[in-house]
Amino acid sequence: MGIRRVQVELEERSYPILIGGGALSELPGLIGPKVSKVAVVTQASIPLSLDIHQPVKVITVPDGEVAKSFVTLERVISEFVEFGLSRADLVIGFGGGVVTDLAGFAASIYHRGVTLVNVPTTLLGMVDAAIGGKTAINIREGKNLVGSFHQPRAVICDTSLLETLPPEEILCGRGEMAKYAFLGADNLLQLPLDAQVEVCAAIKAQFVSSDETEGGGRALLNYGHTLAHALEAQGDLVGGEQRIKHGQAVAIGLIFAARLALSLGRIDESRLDEHLAVVRSFGLDSKLPGWADPDSLIELMRRDKKAIDGLTFVLDGQGGLEVVQSIDPGLIRSELELMARDKRS
Ligand code: GLY
Repeated sequence: MGIRRVQVELEERSYPILIGGGALSELPGLIGPKVSKVAVVTQASIPLSLDIHQPVKVITVPDGEVAKSFVTLERVISEFVEFGLSRADLVIGFGGGVVTDLAGFAASIYHRGVTLVNVPTTLLGMVDAAIGGKTAINIREGKNLVGSFHQPRAVICDTSLLETLPPEEILCGRGEMAKYAFLGADNLLQLPLDAQVEVCAAIKAQFVSSDETEGGGRALLNYGHTLAHALEAQGDLVGGEQRIKHGQAVAIGLIFAARLALSLGRIDESRLDEHLAVVRSFGLDSKLPGWADPDSLIELMRRDKKAIDGLTFVLDGQGGLEVVQSIDPGLIRSELELMARDKRS
């Protein structure tokens, strides 16, 4: 099977997502004639292989969310300047979500915006983070609070890069894939890996094409994420380091959202069971971690940057997924407590 191609349709800013083993060989053909230098933002732990003619400056950033800081951003931009990167040149984000978020933000503000190509090296990056133009860094008050929309020129998902990815990173990507199972991706796990990535990327591309800056429908891509972000934030606070991976947190968030929808009479028991079956089929845990504390989770969810009016969740219902605002904190608290005790989840 050759390289699969999914298109993000954004008029003059449309771009391809190229998927498959060896897709990286397409990179030279994507570099425009005016590009004379290429800055690659990556991490030392990522095996980098690029076969291009232009002079390359490799800029390594630390592993983990700590790299998404103003300090690292400033260093990356200083390195662009020292390298002599011009407005006509190219930035490549070569790594997981941390790298593509940071490289994308740097590319969006350097000389008021230079061309970006994302080469995600994780499953999570290939099915979500590298697609759609969201870029960000973190500040003390919260994750991704500073950022921009800056669409890449192309996203290259070379699935051969996943061969050496640690199993926990694959599992992390699977949390986002479980989400796509509720956004129209049926029987994902029965497909070969390249086709799994293609189906997820196509769904994401469709949402981005119809609502680039999340004025409406794109918000449904946050299914499972309200609790997930709070769990990640609380995990960091409790453990002093990342205690739960994003994909695993999303899986638990999907189950919680289904439980909430059930208690609001939006879905029936069998639909909750479907959520449990999907999450388990992806090898993910559906239980609330023992360290999860309902009160602080509610506080963190209140501060979610997606919350426009009170506690906001994407919830399932008769008409499919929709954003529901102002959910009673008492109900959320009792559902969190029930979930912590329930043997099924
Ligand atoms: N990760 C959700 C989005 O890109 O909209």
